[in-house]
Parts: sequence; structure tokens; C-alpha cells
Amino acid sequence: MSIPADLDNETDEAIETGPPLVVAVDGPSGAGKSSASRGAAQALGLRYLDTGAMYRALTWWLLYRGVDVRDSAAVAGLAADPVIEVGTDPGAPWVRVNGTDVTAEIRSREVTGAVSAVASVPQVRAHLIAQQRDIIAAGGIVAEGRDIGTVVAPDAPVKVFLTADSAERASRRAAQTSQATASTQADQDRRDRLDSAQSAKAEDAVEIDSTALGLGEVVDTIVRLARETRRQAGLPQPRKQST
Ligand code: DC
Repeated sequence: MSIPADLDNETDEAIETGPPLVVAVDGPSGAGKSSASRGAAQALGLRYLDTGAMYRALTWWLLYRGVDVRDSAAVAGLAADPVIEVGTDPGAPWVRVNGTDVTAEIRSREVTGAVSAVASVPQVRAHLIAQQRDIIAAGGIVAEGRDIGTVVAPDAPVKVFLTADSAERASRRAAQTSQATASTQADQDRRDRLDSAQSAKAEDAVEIDSTALGLGEVVDTIVRLARETRRQAGLPQPRKQST
């Protein structure tokens, strides 16, 4: 699908009318999904859901409990134990496990290194996907992950698959974490491999290659897609936000 060039390019408007909108943003780690999804949600006046944060939160809790995350039977048996809550304000997302705020902790190297093993356990996916669908059900949301457009919300009217060159993704991640690019690239390759089973592009998703794009350009593209989808469906266009 191509993006019409004649669309209104404004991003300071909220989609407030018609059926609530769901925007699915999938793609590999380091492609810029979180920043782009949060930016698009803010520009469109929508909520934001980081599904990867939910897998990370469960992983944090398992590590905290001393569970061996390679023991998939143990992980499966504990998948529904902790209460995982997420905030959906794109300006300040947060994650809690059993009432403890773990927004920062879930980004640790330990969690990042262990989360793919946890996310590959079917009972974990079934439990978290049910929770994600409940959050998405009311609509008015940009949801990011790996399987939003294929499994979690296959009826989402707007689907984006955000990619970038493997080397570019690794160098962005290395800049964020102050780690060496070579070891970041090796970790990323390993995670890409482990996450591949749940990382398919939906057939009807629009692929955006962010390798040579700035964040603003990616956000703008998603906003324009959302507006175009509304126009094609004959739904009311966004109203200006009053300032
Ligand atoms: O996007 P992220 O790095 O925060 O994701 C953390 C892990 O969770 C990663 O291993 C992929 C996995 N994940 C998933 O399997 N399905 C999702 N919808 C989101 C993330």
C-alpha cells in the first residue's frame, strides 16, 4: 500500500469521532517502534500500549523469584501468577507487577537477555494476549509489539510493520545503552532468531523502513495512514484539538 502524497500533513489533531481507532505497530527490536508509537498516539490523541513491556514485566518477576526461565514448564505454571498492570498514557507509560513499579527495571540487561525465552512459552502468550485484547477492546489506541496485527488485533484498521537495517538497529540500541555495537549486534541477532516465531508481518500491514528516516518522519507516516484509513472508510476526519 502506498501513502497518498496529498494528505493533510498536520499531526496536532485528535481522532475523536467515529468508531474508536486501533493502530497496530509491529516489527523487530531497535526499529524505533516505541518512540514512533508513542509519538503517533500523542499526535492522534490515542492511548498507547507497549505489549513488550508486559512480557518484560513477567520476566522481571520470574527472575526476582529465582525461576530458571529456560524451564518452560515452570514458566508456564507461573504465567498467570503476578498481577501485571500497564499505564496507557503515551506521555508517561508505566508498568507494575503486584503493585510495584518496575518501569525502569524491565529495561535491564538481565531482563532483556531472558525475555525471549519467557515470551516463547505458549501459556505466557495466551495469558498476556488475553489481557492485551481487554486493553485494546475499547479502541482509541496505538498498540506495539510483534504480533499485534497478526494475532492480538487482526482486525485493526491500521497496521504498520516498522523495520530498519540490522546494523542500524544495533547501532541505535548501542547508543541508548552505551554498550559496544558488536556485542549489541550479536545479542540482537540472537533475540531476532528467538522472537522470529511470533514476529510475522501481517499481509495487510504497511511496511515502513526507518533506516534512513527520522522519528518525525515515521510518526508523520503513521498519522497520515490513520487519517487516510478513516477517509477511505468514509469516517469523519479528525477534529482540531482546542488549545
Ligand atoms: O519490544 P521489546 O524488546 O520490549 O519486547 C520484549 C520481548 O517480548 C521480545 O523478546 C519480544 C517479545 N514480544 C512478543 O513476543 N510479543 C509482543 N507482542 C511483544 C513483545
